[in-house]
Amino acid sequence: MHNLLFRLDPALQQLLARAAELAPTVNATVWLVGGVVRDLLLELPIGRDIDLAVEGDVNQLAPLVAEAWGGHITARHPPFGTATIVVDQWLIDLAQTRTERYPRPAILPEVQPAPLALDLYRRDYSINAMAIRLAARDGQLLPMPLFDPLGGVADLAARRLRLLHDQSLRDDPTRLLRGARLASRLDLTPDRATAAQIAAALAAGYLALLTPERIQTELCLTLAEPDPAAVVALSDQWGMTEQLIPGLRWTPALAERLARYRNDEYGIAALAPAEMVMAGLLLYDLSDDELAMFLQRYHLPTTIRHLINDLVSLRRLTAALTAAASPSELDKLLQPYSVPAIAVLHFASNAPMQPAIARYLREWRSLRPPLNGDDLRALGVTPGPRLGQLLHELRAATLDGLITDRAAAEQWVRQQLANS
Ligand code: CTP
Repeated sequence: MHNLLFRLDPALQQLLARAAELAPTVNATVWLVGGVVRDLLLELPIGRDIDLAVEGDVNQLAPLVAEAWGGHITARHPPFGTATIVVDQWLIDLAQTRTERYPRPAILPEVQPAPLALDLYRRDYSINAMAIRLAARDGQLLPMPLFDPLGGVADLAARRLRLLHDQSLRDDPTRLLRGARLASRLDLTPDRATAAQIAAALAAGYLALLTPERIQTELCLTLAEPDPAAVVALSDQWGMTEQLIPGLRWTPALAERLARYRNDEYGIAALAPAEMVMAGLLLYDLSDDELAMFLQRYHLPTTIRHLINDLVSLRRLTAALTAAASPSELDKLLQPYSVPAIAVLHFASNAPMQPAIARYLREWRSLRPPLNGDDLRALGVTPGPRLGQLLHELRAATLDGLITDRAAAEQWVRQQLANS
């Protein structure tokens, strides 16, 4: 337990040691807190976000530390006593230890400096409320005990998700989404009191008090989880998805679709960003009206908006796609839509349709005929709409296997010219 810090990347240890040595010069104490401490205990990989709690004046300490690290401060909120320093691959948050008061539910809190113990108590779950004081000698971190006044270690050992006080979800309803992510990722179960608080918070409609932007941030974090589907399944079990995205339910059909995506029999997953495909698969069964409401409620990035619009059109094509008799017919139907949307369609389609859509994505979509515009001109085709039309027909004939090489293509063009 005392050696937890030595599991950190050695370069990060050096940075933290430097901060620990500088802190006393401004009468401050620095603690490693939050998810990193939890993940060190669980022996999980540590990401790039590192949280430091500072008992003392962050506004004084942050510039000193940033300079010593050769990093730079990217965000700073002097009234809140917070600063973010980017150094090497890390994003290190320094925050003055504080208590929070929420005058109304779900708004940003009024904060006041406070000792670390109170700072830990204002946090979300016990497993995120542990800290290790940073101390160093000769540029090396010293082993320090874990500070765990709220029972985080015991909860981790029992795989228990436990809120720290009964106003927590009212104060900050994003904790409902954070809880589902944590529980799913770390295989935790809410204890009885926490489960009751979750149910009560959802029944009280606290999620509706959050701005769409805050929910959206949490939804994006969900999509970035190792297993977003498991988070959605758990969220639905808690009765939360319906409040976040009306129409989204965890169904056997959705589970099957996501399993198909995981198995990725046809090697399609790598063709589109995972978050886009996951978002599309989750939203695929929502009605047109539900999707329209979803688009209206959240200010989504253009890529996701396009994806949703494409899906609304694409899923209407199922019958036409099934009836498509040749690659060129399939190409004609799918060509207007984006690769991520078609990848979603592939995973959402029934078994007989999948091979053709997969081949379309992997081969047919990018297929070029053996001749280009210059070649056609050299063969005597005058530039203009006719040339475009011939190129198009040439590509369709190549897709359908009627033309396989350059010689056949040239012969085909000559024949077209002779016939016209
Ligand atoms: N925190 C909180 N309530 C919130 C958000 C954050 O109490 N609504 C506290 C928790 O102590 C959390 C810490 O701030 O551990 C840092 O938050 P964040 O970086 O968002 O998450 P991590 O716990 O580091 O977890 P993750 O692995 O999910 O990034």
